[in-house]
Amino acid sequence: MAKVLTLDEVDLEGRTVLVRVDINSPLDPINNVFLDDTRIRRIIPTLNKLTKSKVVLLAHQSRPGKKDFTSTLGHSRELGRLLGRNVKWVDDIYGKKALTAIENMEDGDLLMLNNVRMDEGEMTTKGDFVAMSETMMVQNLSMIADAFVNDAFACAHRSSPSIVGFTNVLPCVAGELMNYELSKLGQALENPKRPCIAVLGGIKVGDSVVVADNMLRGGISDHIWVTGGVANLFLHLSGIDLGELNVNFLKNEIKEKWDETVAIASALLKDFPECIIMPSDVALNITGNRVDHPLKDLPIEAPIFDLGITSIQSLSKAIKSAGTIILNGPAGVFEVSDFALGTIEMLNACAESEGYAVMGGGHTATLVSQRGLADKMGHVSTGGGASLELLAGRTLPGLASLEESAKQFRFSISKPLDHQ
Ligand code: 3PG
Repeated sequence: MAKVLTLDEVDLEGRTVLVRVDINSPLDPINNVFLDDTRIRRIIPTLNKLTKSKVVLLAHQSRPGKKDFTSTLGHSRELGRLLGRNVKWVDDIYGKKALTAIENMEDGDLLMLNNVRMDEGEMTTKGDFVAMSETMMVQNLSMIADAFVNDAFACAHRSSPSIVGFTNVLPCVAGELMNYELSKLGQALENPKRPCIAVLGGIKVGDSVVVADNMLRGGISDHIWVTGGVANLFLHLSGIDLGELNVNFLKNEIKEKWDETVAIASALLKDFPECIIMPSDVALNITGNRVDHPLKDLPIEAPIFDLGITSIQSLSKAIKSAGTIILNGPAGVFEVSDFALGTIEMLNACAESEGYAVMGGGHTATLVSQRGLADKMGHVSTGGGASLELLAGRTLPGLASLEESAKQFRFSISKPLDHQ
């Protein structure tokens, strides 16, 4: 377990505390209404420990260029509703408006800044902790804050100013959710029961391929079952003709990471041909209807929206007989009910399995809670990429930052012994 500072060890009463959270949530594409507030609920334990501080929340929603890239105003209202407390919001991140709003805060106040990904420095700054600390965001906010709390486990795998920029500048403390995730995922890693399978789906294909690489080369997973967009890439690279429409969709999702992703996936297929399990049939969306086809019928110029029935059955069987299951991302376009079958069946299989099932990813967590399956899983993580990267043995920049900061600031901010 990492040596990080925790909220129980520090005295933040009467202090101005920056709290980075990950409340990036699924929104209704029509009216931006929250489809799931799980991530917002999960930061409440941290806020409950800071009721005597001035709490400034830094958060993001999606990424520039995506349909659900919006301000955090709705998030502040949703948080206020859940807490039954007033959560102020300011249409600024570190400019005059934000700094004035922070200066006017009183103990017990909560203020949410606008989407930190609206800041170019947040999106483009590259380099180490020092480079991140030289950004305007870190320079301006650290001038009026006493400490930084990182409770954004779900983006601890991203290196950006709002995650790692405060490392050397302010005492950085792990929030309650961050600690909980680290301990639960740590349990999955300590001596995983075999066979350990990873089920990787969704559309963050580039990230999943890197994780598959780490898991197979590091001997963490015995098999990788691929679903969703990840399956389409491996099928395409194995020589299955998915049709121009499906290949173009993939290229459009992976964008500039295409060559790199293809190189890693191709090497995996060559080095671990028995360990990557691909679907044997797919469900196509043919003018709004689900039509299942074995791979030999392809190409058919219609979008692939789910695993086919035979593949769903094989995957469910493998999940039920696994010792450990690490699952991330939906198996198909679960938002359209006819194509939710693969995703629902694999989650049901996880709930029924005797194995330790770790669920990751915003969409997966939403579905697990909507279907009332959370209690039947080993752990439902708020992180997608972050939990996978941790389980794959990679160092998370957000965690490295907390460890480094603890070395520097432990004695400057610790509670006196008799208060602990
Ligand atoms: C997530 O939803 O996985 C986190 O909020 C990180 O989002 P990102 O993949 O856009 O960095």
